[in-house]
Amino acid sequence: ELFRPINSYYDFENIKMVPEGDLITRNLSDMDWMYQDQEAVQELLKEDPQIYRYYNVDIPEEEGHLQHCISIINPGKVGNEYNMTKGHFHEIKGTAEIYYTIQGEGMLFMQSVTDGEPEFEALEMKKGTLSYVPPYWAHRTINTGEEPLAFIGIYPGEAGHVYGEIEAKGFMKLLIEKDGEPTIIDNPNYK
Ligand code: PA5
Ligand code: NI
Repeated sequence: ELFRPINSYYDFENIKMVPEGDLITRNLSDMDWMYQDQEAVQELLKEDPQIYRYYNVDIPEEEGHLQHCISIINPGKVGNEYNMTKGHFHEIKGTAEIYYTIQGEGMLFMQSVTDGEPEFEALEMKKGTLSYVPPYWAHRTINTGEEPLAFIGIYPGEAGHVYGEIEAKGFMKLLIEKDGEPTIIDNPNYK
């Protein structure tokens, strides 16, 4: 069946995608164990703030299509660790992704998912940054700024998402505020 062309819009004023498509929200309680400072987590859980949300354009998850969505990470920290996405790699590990930052500033953490020892890379994100996540790299985004970090993600329709491994092991690095600056440190709990 022929899929019809469609537009989506980013509403900079109201910080959302229109039409909303499939909206997925992640509050702290959806990922509380992923942050290092569990005392800060317990305190914040009383309010259970939204950490991020993403608007998926409704596209068939099939080869040939390009899935795309707009992600928005709210500014803030859990203890001294900046708000971040859960992070994932693609079910078909050999599929890439492009992130285009349209608002705010942050970092893109990547960790290789080949059979060898995992390697780490980080890229800065700011309005206008076009970031390439090559095949075989898990990815997580982090808001280091004072305003929402918004970016468009585009990836092959068949890619799929795997969360379980990062949910269990974390990323090998963390991004914390140290002396007022975003600082990458080793994750002491990385398994
Ligand atoms: O496709 C992507 O990589 C992004 O659109 C993410 O899915 C989005 O930023 C949310 O992050 P996560 O899927 O890790 O929860
Ligand atoms: Ni992805």
